[in-house]
Amino acid sequence: MAKPKKRYVCQACGSVSHRWQGQCADCAEWNTLVEDAPATVFSLKHDLSSGGRAVKFVDLDKPGAMPVRQKTGLAEFDRALGGGLVPGSAILMGGDPGIGKSTLLLQAAAKVAREGHGVVYVSGEEAAGQVRMRAARLGLSDAPVKLAAATGVRDILTTLGGMDTPKLLVIDSIQTMHSDTIEGAPGTVSQVRGCAFELIRYAKETGATLVLVGHVTKDGNIAGPRVLEHMVDVVMSFEGERSHQYRILRALKNRFGAVDEIGVFAMEGDGLEEVDNPSLLFLSGREQPMAGSAVFPAMEGTRPVLVEIQALIVRLQSGATPRRAVVGWDTGRLAMLLAVLESRCGLSFSSAEVYLNVAGGYRLSDPAADLAVAAALVSALADKALPQRSAWLGEVSLAGEVRPVAHGGVRLREAAKLGFDRGFGPPDAKNSSAELEYVGVGQLANLVDRVMSS
Ligand code: TYD
Ligand code: MG
Repeated sequence: MAKPKKRYVCQACGSVSHRWQGQCADCAEWNTLVEDAPATVFSLKHDLSSGGRAVKFVDLDKPGAMPVRQKTGLAEFDRALGGGLVPGSAILMGGDPGIGKSTLLLQAAAKVAREGHGVVYVSGEEAAGQVRMRAARLGLSDAPVKLAAATGVRDILTTLGGMDTPKLLVIDSIQTMHSDTIEGAPGTVSQVRGCAFELIRYAKETGATLVLVGHVTKDGNIAGPRVLEHMVDVVMSFEGERSHQYRILRALKNRFGAVDEIGVFAMEGDGLEEVDNPSLLFLSGREQPMAGSAVFPAMEGTRPVLVEIQALIVRLQSGATPRRAVVGWDTGRLAMLLAVLESRCGLSFSSAEVYLNVAGGYRLSDPAADLAVAAALVSALADKALPQRSAWLGEVSLAGEVRPVAHGGVRLREAAKLGFDRGFGPPDAKNSSAELEYVGVGQLANLVDRVMSS
């Protein structure tokens, strides 16, 4: 029999190679290839068409197929999950170090425990005393959460086997877990995969909801193998700028719900506070009308969120190459808008530096922001403030037309609710409403004329 081929697995990205190399060919990390146990090779001669047990088929509409979700009581967390915890499911919670994953999960755990359900919180990163200190700071010391500092999966599963199944099991974090049946140090691909597999199996068999905390590498992926993302039912990402207080909880994958819902929190001295009106957070501090500032009603899932877009134009004296710097938006899209403003509206940005910032550290990916960005740019260039209490929405085409966007009505109603009295956007009868004055802008050139001549 031929000798099984050696396999080397990159510990950073999980890719497999048959030769050891100093640098991974896929992710370009150095010294991450480690020899893996040879994969069992099945002979094609095996006949698998007999000798197995019959698999049971069921109807799609079997009653009771819908799982009953358990609300955590943290409304923003439940919203991002699509309505609460699904029994027997596994959730992977990713996020930068220090962003607040442990804080969020301890708060959710305490809420569920106070409702009278069993909750187990296993910390592999912090000693029990440290977690207790955090609980005291959050005012949660009295919550009946079963807390343990442990890293051995066998110890954890043995202990769980000897007690009532908890409703919620938090493992903080999967990279610190270790199984004695698998070779390698904690955090390696095989350990992470093996430990996750055992814990997920426990959740599926008992109906407990499992939350695995996962570290994020510097390029934003959850450290360890991508396979972890395939193994779990829900992948959540906890995001935010550490220098800003707000945090967004987002589902990147959800087998039981929509992936475009978000939960918004603010990190305060005594833990994460739920923010049920995010617009107020992202718009805070807007008092004076300012040149270069435009408000855009963004959509996050089914929820509108008003954000402020700021532009700054600095004329250059010398012939140096002007900078374009963008925070919170797409650089390519800014280049496109500048090109459209130059070629269709006769404006010149070629000898000016352009800075664009979405206030509050918020990230926009919605193409409906084009008109608001253009309005901010034109306003900055003309050094004239846009009309007060106005909101801007619309996609801009390469021909300079302003195109309709989805959910115009919902976006404008949110703006009206927050005291905005005028909306600018594509000529679209559906957007006109009693709540605010709607001004149709068909061409970007109309907007430029309006701002320049005001
Ligand atoms: P933590 O939950 O430990 O982050 P993670 O588990 O994602 O690494 O949160 C750490 C940060 O949160 C820390 O820098 C301090 C801050 N923090 C507050 O501002 N207020 C609080 O009440 C708590 C508990 C933490
Ligand atoms: Mg932590």
